[in-house]
Amino acid sequence: MHGERFSKVGFVLAAAGSAVGLGNIWKFPYMTGENGGGAFVFIYLLTIVFIGLSVFLAESVMGRLSRGDAVSAFETLPQKNGQYWKYGGFMVFTGVIILSFYTIVIGWIFKYIYVAATTLPSSVEEAGAAFGGMITTDTVGQMLFFTLAFVITFYIVSQGIKRGIERINLVLMPLLVGILVLLLFYAMTLDGFGDSLRFLFIPDFSKVTSTSILSAVGHAFFTLSLGMGTIMTYSASLPKDSNLVTSSLSVAALDTIIALIAGMVIFTLIFSFGAEPAQGAGLVFISLPPLFHDLGVLGNIIGFAFFVALAFAGITSAVSIVEPTAMYMINRFKISRVQALSILGVTTYVLGTLALISNVETLKGYATIFGKGVFDILDFSSSSILLPLGGLLVALFVGYALQKDRLVALLGDHMPKAAFDVWYFSIRYVAPLGIAAVMINQLFF
Ligand code: PFF
Ligand code: NA
Repeated sequence: MHGERFSKVGFVLAAAGSAVGLGNIWKFPYMTGENGGGAFVFIYLLTIVFIGLSVFLAESVMGRLSRGDAVSAFETLPQKNGQYWKYGGFMVFTGVIILSFYTIVIGWIFKYIYVAATTLPSSVEEAGAAFGGMITTDTVGQMLFFTLAFVITFYIVSQGIKRGIERINLVLMPLLVGILVLLLFYAMTLDGFGDSLRFLFIPDFSKVTSTSILSAVGHAFFTLSLGMGTIMTYSASLPKDSNLVTSSLSVAALDTIIALIAGMVIFTLIFSFGAEPAQGAGLVFISLPPLFHDLGVLGNIIGFAFFVALAFAGITSAVSIVEPTAMYMINRFKISRVQALSILGVTTYVLGTLALISNVETLKGYATIFGKGVFDILDFSSSSILLPLGGLLVALFVGYALQKDRLVALLGDHMPKAAFDVWYFSIRYVAPLGIAAVMINQLFF
C-alpha cells in the first residue's frame, strides 16, 4: 500500500515536522493571550501529558498495525469480537478544513519574510495597523501569497512526501530551534521577561471558562497533529521494529518545548513594549517585527531567518495535513495521486478563498454564516470539534475494540509493564472521559 518506507529517524523527523508548525508559534501564543495566560497553559499541558501523549501512541499503534490509511485502519483491524468498525470516515474531511486556513497563514508568513527583509514597522502600534490593514483590505496580496503557499504544499505532496520531507526537516528544524533559542536569550535580557513567565506559568483560574478549556484541549490535539489520521498515516510506513514509545515521547516533548519557548519570547516582547496580549491571530506578526526593527540590520537578518524557518515549519505541517486524505482517496477509489490531489486542491482552494475574504472588510458579507466568518468557522470546527472527536474515536478503538494482546506484543518490549498499564488506563478511561466531558460541557451548556 505504501510504496516508500520511512527510516526510523525519518519517521521521527517527519512526525516532528508535522507536529511543530504554526500551531506552536502562531496559534499557541495568541490563544494563550486571548485566554488569559497561565490557566490556559496549565490545562493545555495537562491535556498533552494525560491525553495527547496516549492518543499519539494509540494513533501510531493503529497505523503501524494496519499499514493503511486512516479510514482503513478502523475498518481492517479486527476487533476482539471479529467485527470491524466503520466510524473513522469523517477524519478525512478534517484535513481539508484545517488546510484551508493553514495555507492562508503560511501566506501571511511569506509576506512577512518580505517585510523583514525590507522595512520593518518601528512600533507595536504601527505593526498592528500594518497587519490589520493586510487582513482586512489587501485581498489581492493575500490571495497571491495564499496561492503560493497552496502551490508549494501540493507540489511537495505530489512528489510523494517521504524523501523530500525528511530532508527539508533535517535542515530546517534545527534552524528554527536555533533562532528561537537565540531570541529566548535576547528576551531574557529585557524587562518583560519576568512578567512573561508569570503570565504563562502562574495560573489564574478565575479566567477559565468552558470555552477556554475546550480551546486548550482542542489545541493540544491540533499541536500534536492528532485526531485526523496524520500520525496514523505516517506510522503506517514505519519499519517493523520501530520503537513507537520513544518516538511519541520525543515528538510530544519537542512540540511542547517549542511552543513554550515561542510563548516566552513573544510575551516578553508584548510586556516589554506594553502591548496587549489578547490581540488574536495577529499576535506574532505584531509583537516580533518591532523588535527586529530595533536591532537594525541584524534584526532584518534574524527576522528574515525567523519567518523563513517558520514558513518551512508551516509547510512541513501543511504537507502532513494533506497526506492522510490523499492516501485515503488513492487507496479507496484507486485513483492516482495527481487525481486525488486535484480534487483536494480545488476544494481547499475554494474554501481557503472564502476563509480569506471572510476577513476582508468589504467582502466579508459573502463569507459569513450565522454571523461568523468562514475563517473562524473552519478554525473552530476543526480544532474544537473534529480533532477531539477523532482523538476520542482512536482512544475508544484502541482501548476497547483492539485485542490487548496485540498491543502488548507491539509495545511490551519498549515500555515497562507499569507504563503500559498507565497508558492503557488512560486510553480506556482518562482520554475518552476527559474529551467527552469537555466537549459536552462546551457544546450543550
Ligand atoms: N500540528 C500542526 C501545528 O501545530 O501547526 C498542525 C497540524 C498538522 C494539525 C497536522 C493537524 C495535522 F494533522
Ligand atoms: Na504543533
